[in-house]
Amino acid sequence: MAGERDIKRLPRVELPADARLDTLAVREGLPPSQWGENSEALFLTSSFVHPDAATAAARFANQEEAFVYSRFTNPTVMMMERRLAALEGAESCIATSSGMSAILLMCLGLLKAGDHVICSQSVFGSTIKLLAGELARFGVETSFVSQTDVEAWRAALRPSTRLLFAETPSNPLTEVCDIAALATIAHDAGALLAVDNCFCTPALQLPLKLGADLIIHSGTKYLDGQGRVLAGALCGPAKIVEDKLVPLMRSAGLTLSPFNAWVVLKGLETLGIRMAAQGERALVLARWLESHPAVERVYYPGLPSHPQHALAMKQQNGGGGAVVSFVVKARDAQEARRNAFHAIDSTRICSITANLGDTKSTVTHPASTSHGRLSEEQRLAAGITQGMIRVAVGLEDIEDLKADLARGLDTLPA
Ligand SMILES: Cc1ncc(COP(=O)(O)O)c(C=O)c1O
Repeated sequence: MAGERDIKRLPRVELPADARLDTLAVREGLPPSQWGENSEALFLTSSFVHPDAATAAARFANQEEAFVYSRFTNPTVMMMERRLAALEGAESCIATSSGMSAILLMCLGLLKAGDHVICSQSVFGSTIKLLAGELARFGVETSFVSQTDVEAWRAALRPSTRLLFAETPSNPLTEVCDIAALATIAHDAGALLAVDNCFCTPALQLPLKLGADLIIHSGTKYLDGQGRVLAGALCGPAKIVEDKLVPLMRSAGLTLSPFNAWVVLKGLETLGIRMAAQGERALVLARWLESHPAVERVYYPGLPSHPQHALAMKQQNGGGGAVVSFVVKARDAQEARRNAFHAIDSTRICSITANLGDTKSTVTHPASTSHGRLSEEQRLAAGITQGMIRVAVGLEDIEDLKADLARGLDTLPA
């Protein structure tokens, strides 16, 4: 009997076995339909028609492979899943309606009451809320530990630990954790390591190659790349994705819409060149910020001053990514917030928005936006202070971006 969808039996695009990332990003998917379209078709349909009742029955019972209902099987969504799986070097991928729903799907599929999770305390604010708040209501306990202190992860292990979860580099501090070391800790304890690869994408970092078991994506970020849609995905072995998560998706419906999948699918085609170009600009901006007298500290893995610079360069294919965070100088938290707001409000090019991964550069104040729902204690544990600004560098001219930030930094109130 086939599974909910039998990835081996559905037809494949014929590509050389050694096709590289940029080729897979453009070509992997499903073969074209009978019309021979060159650009992938958008199958904007909620259900699929069967030739007769007996065939429908066989398909619903997974006895015959076919697309049935877009809550769990849709060709456009599957094209995106296959493309992303190929880029990540994963056996399988399941797309979800957002990055958060990918994390939720993983937790629902792999954890039960009484299980324990170890998570970096530097992950995205909603991830902390989900684990510490919602999952705790269902009896799943999470310990939050330092992103970079490998021994703290080991010390947090319990017999009930099932999952280690890290995001590297983290949002917004760009802290880099040692994926291979965490994978060893997880596996020695019989647990799994999941890595949120949102900041790097497979263009820079391949967590599975470093020993991770699962990859989480917010497709909303660099995978789409132009700030158009919400999307998410989880990549990993078929025995988890196909056997556990696809049936759960069928019941729970955290589904990605075919339209959003199509946008991400086309976004993936330019992933490599976008990550390279945005990363180049980010490095220039980070260096410039580091030399600015109004800036106290810059967080960017591509800078030698970054505490995990060497690890980042090894783990991230030599690239620092495109997110740069920095702290403005101030005498106290109140002044820091005022100065940060002044610098943000003085921009004319950067969009003041908490999203990232767009070709349009974005600027945000993490303490009051992405991490605004955390308690002050959680925020400080995550290292997010009132003077911090996060810039997700897009594709504008870097001289214009420098001038955009200089406008505020050069005129901070005394
Ligand atoms: C690192 C990281 N992971 C996950 C998410 C959640 O993704 P989504 O907004 O698609 O739910 C975000 C969103 O900002 C993020 O920055």
